[in-house]
Amino acid sequence: MSQNGTITSYLDENRRFLPSKEFLATAGHTQSEFKHLQKLASGDPLAFWDQMARELQWQHPWTQTLQGEAPFVRWFEGGKINASQSCLDRHAHSWRKNKAAIIWEGEEGEVVTLTYGQLHKEVSEFAALLRSEGVGVGDRVAIYLPLIPQCAVAMLACARIGAIHTVIFAGFSSDSVRDRVHDSQCKMIITADGGRRKGKIIQLKKIVDDALSDIKEECVKTVLVYSHLKIDMAMKAGRDWLVSEKLAQLKNGDQSAASLDASHPLFILYTSGTTGKPKGIIHSTAGYLTQVSATAKWVFDFKDEDIFWCTADVGWITGHSYLVYGPLANGATVFMYEGAPLYPAPDRFWSMIEKHKVTILYTAPTAIRTFMQSGDEHIKKHDLSSLRLLGSVGEPINPKAWMWYHSVVGQDRCPIVDTWWQTETGGIMISPVPTMTATTPGSATYPFPGIDIDIFTQDGKTCEMNDGGYLVVKSPWPGMAQGIWGDNERFLDTYWSKYPSVYYTGDGARRDEHGNFWLMGRVDDVVNVSGHRLGTMEIESALVSHEVVAEAAVVAIDDEITGQALVAFVTLKNDATRDSSLHELLRNHVAQQIGAFAKPKAVRIVEALPKTRSGKIMRRLLRELAQSGQVHGDTTTLEDIGVLQRLKELDQEEA
Ligand code: WT7
Repeated sequence: MSQNGTITSYLDENRRFLPSKEFLATAGHTQSEFKHLQKLASGDPLAFWDQMARELQWQHPWTQTLQGEAPFVRWFEGGKINASQSCLDRHAHSWRKNKAAIIWEGEEGEVVTLTYGQLHKEVSEFAALLRSEGVGVGDRVAIYLPLIPQCAVAMLACARIGAIHTVIFAGFSSDSVRDRVHDSQCKMIITADGGRRKGKIIQLKKIVDDALSDIKEECVKTVLVYSHLKIDMAMKAGRDWLVSEKLAQLKNGDQSAASLDASHPLFILYTSGTTGKPKGIIHSTAGYLTQVSATAKWVFDFKDEDIFWCTADVGWITGHSYLVYGPLANGATVFMYEGAPLYPAPDRFWSMIEKHKVTILYTAPTAIRTFMQSGDEHIKKHDLSSLRLLGSVGEPINPKAWMWYHSVVGQDRCPIVDTWWQTETGGIMISPVPTMTATTPGSATYPFPGIDIDIFTQDGKTCEMNDGGYLVVKSPWPGMAQGIWGDNERFLDTYWSKYPSVYYTGDGARRDEHGNFWLMGRVDDVVNVSGHRLGTMEIESALVSHEVVAEAAVVAIDDEITGQALVAFVTLKNDATRDSSLHELLRNHVAQQIGAFAKPKAVRIVEALPKTRSGKIMRRLLRELAQSGQVHGDTTTLEDIGVLQRLKELDQEEA
């Protein structure tokens, strides 16, 4: 059932690792505290979430923990809250005022530290600026920024006034920016002159200009620009403003934290699905914040001395939940790095861990495999003794990479938390708790307390032990998505129609004799390349939008570093001339349509695609062919067996 088939190789994995004595001796929380919570959650999940929610700062308490029927439920109904107060005000008004909230390092090695006091001040001022620009409760604001502290400032400022932010990863192309801004009808875009990547400058403001140049309706009234790199840029009169100048003009602005309903939307984040159009996942304020705050506290075992580095970009859900909202709600110090992992040298990560004394590292398997390949010597020359806990997220981590992470990076002392969750779940759903859980390489272990997860057969029964099935969530959880922006039908259809009142994750999984969950990859046309979620349909639509392309079929194959990689099979229009530069041209076309990270690994130009008699492209055959050069599966439904023969011949020619 899995697209990448990796699970078969983990079936015999039975190594078990208990938290080391060293870890337990200095852990932030005790086993008995957690056992108490587990007990509470298993007896009364709502009472458990109530207790978690009480750790936030509320303006007015809620009257009902959970209201309504899945999927349209409301958590903490009646409560009034503002996410920026839980993340900032209460810390800024405590002894944490001078504690670092964000330590940022740029690619060129520059370092900026913002204390809770400073971050609170910056966010409050920026909130006042947003208000003075006419942004109000419920308005959508796009944020298209490199990974700099201003990203967190902009997000929290939106939260402060009740505007709904939609962060667009700075690797997305102008077309993708335009689609997202248009879909959510943003009133404003917050961007920067540029960002850095591998020593090069990416001119973000220019990309925004391109995106806005052909937007049909004029929804965007204002573009606020941070001068991050101090490079020249064009400014459109009446629309574009420098943040620094606007702030200097602002007097006596309203910096207050709006009083918002618990289920007021905090943000929209676009993610890929099985159609060509990305979906704007909506998250609530209180439910989302409760889940990310509680999971951050228990899964990352936060204590006040920690320096927590989540390597994700803020443009993805991991950056929202564990670089901004989760850690800041806990008053933790986060480390943020704008730049490429191996730049300017393969030891960049390890030198920063040593320099900033990072204690917890949360990264993706694709990064782990890249480091593994670049050689242990880059790690061994640095003192990583500050590290006490390691995390993994985004895709299944293969046992070999897990063991390497454990022994080389963690020096056998740091527990690993392999955390399973999704953009739609808001926060972590399945993960070890480092003080408690015996971990097995490759398994995300057990559901977090209060999370009701199961594995279903096709007809909705719980799977037998070790049988693969569909991963589902049977009861509402606080961080659950509230919908897809502007498309309730798609929301119901994608997640809530396969099984009544049960959330369908789109992942395959099995459970072993210890109750450990083993994730088996996506069961739909969503693939995971370097921890980035991509829909094969999206890439196909990008390809067919090129004038020479007639048809395209995109499949995923296993890749040692990126987990999965994309191979595109393309047929050309009759009059198109085929030359050797066409492959590269089409790869670049995808980069231009979506973003460079979505480029297929290979483009194959073929005469015809294998189809069933009813005209459906048989992607399964293409996948087999791309993966192994062979087709073993059933080909009886294939309309023209000759097509397959010609594809195989082409494959041999290319090899
Ligand atoms: C998909 C969600 C979770 C935030 C980053 C990605 C896969 C995620 C794991 C894991 C196995 C994982 C799933 C999921 N996934 N974490 N620990 N083990 N698979 O968020 O872009 O929404 O992607 O990533 O397939 O459905 P996303």
